[in-house]
Amino acid sequence: MSAKVVVVGSLNMDLVTRSPRIPLPGETIIGSNFYTLPGGKGANQAVAAARLGACASMVGRVGQDAFGRPLLANLDNNGVDHTYVSQDPEAATGVALITVDDAGENTIVLASGANMHFSPAHVDAAASAIAAAEVLLLQLEIPLETVTRAAEVAQAHGVRVILNPAPAPAEPLPAELLSRVNILIPNETETSLLTGLSVEDRPQAEVAAAALREVGVETVILTLGARGALLAQASESILIPAFKITPVDTTAAGDAFVAGFGTALAEGKSLPEAIRWGNAVGALAATRLGAQPSLPARLEVEQLLAEPNDLSFERGV
Ligand code: RIB
Repeated sequence: MSAKVVVVGSLNMDLVTRSPRIPLPGETIIGSNFYTLPGGKGANQAVAAARLGACASMVGRVGQDAFGRPLLANLDNNGVDHTYVSQDPEAATGVALITVDDAGENTIVLASGANMHFSPAHVDAAASAIAAAEVLLLQLEIPLETVTRAAEVAQAHGVRVILNPAPAPAEPLPAELLSRVNILIPNETETSLLTGLSVEDRPQAEVAAAALREVGVETVILTLGARGALLAQASESILIPAFKITPVDTTAAGDAFVAGFGTALAEGKSLPEAIRWGNAVGALAATRLGAQPSLPARLEVEQLLAEPNDLSFERGV
């Protein structure tokens, strides 16, 4: 039977332009192609999990408009259950304005719309779906109180809670939320924002991970881009190297990592093995344009994992 993964989070339509470089403030530059693609950190994670074979459910909110309908249809096409994606009669569907440069880096500006009208009461309506899951995936493109409520429902039912604190908030994350999170997965930027510390090398990453663990999360996984991912627990820390790729577009690579990791964990894999899955799913997503169009099928991930790579884990104390 497939592992059950529930995602409580955002759905956006991504309006993407390719550009030779990211423009400076006040500058107009000539880009190339324009794409309208399904995105949103929450929906990206749900679609990624479904493509890996999970029984994936999305809980969120869209508008009753020209972007909301195709986003729901896209979830259908990917086999993601959206019983608990409600439709707001007034707010517009979330939109992300994305610029991707020739190096594959991006900038994203989000108009949250209906995502910010997603309330704790909507989570309560989906409690039975959350309770039936092996893991719950959370991010921060919806109101913090809604994220906290979802974590509370999951914790009450013994469901593992994975929080990807993206985008990182200006304020520290509330203890009420962190006390309900089993695994926190920030990237380098989010780690620096959450801790005030730099994450430029492994010793710095270890210190930052320890600082995050001190606020009450048992397991922290720092995603370090091309350097891989650092698993930090009370007993030890392990750096699991990244797969070497040439990035085309890193949009949703972090979402792909979280979904790959969460799905593997839901299937019963160990933390280091689940991180290898996350690394593989994230790497493949970065080799293709767009958020959801870039998310790989399970077979591609299995093939990458089977390739000879020097992926021995580096252990620390
Ligand atoms: O993580 C990538 C996502 O961030 C995009 O799909 C965009 O919608 C924003 O939410």
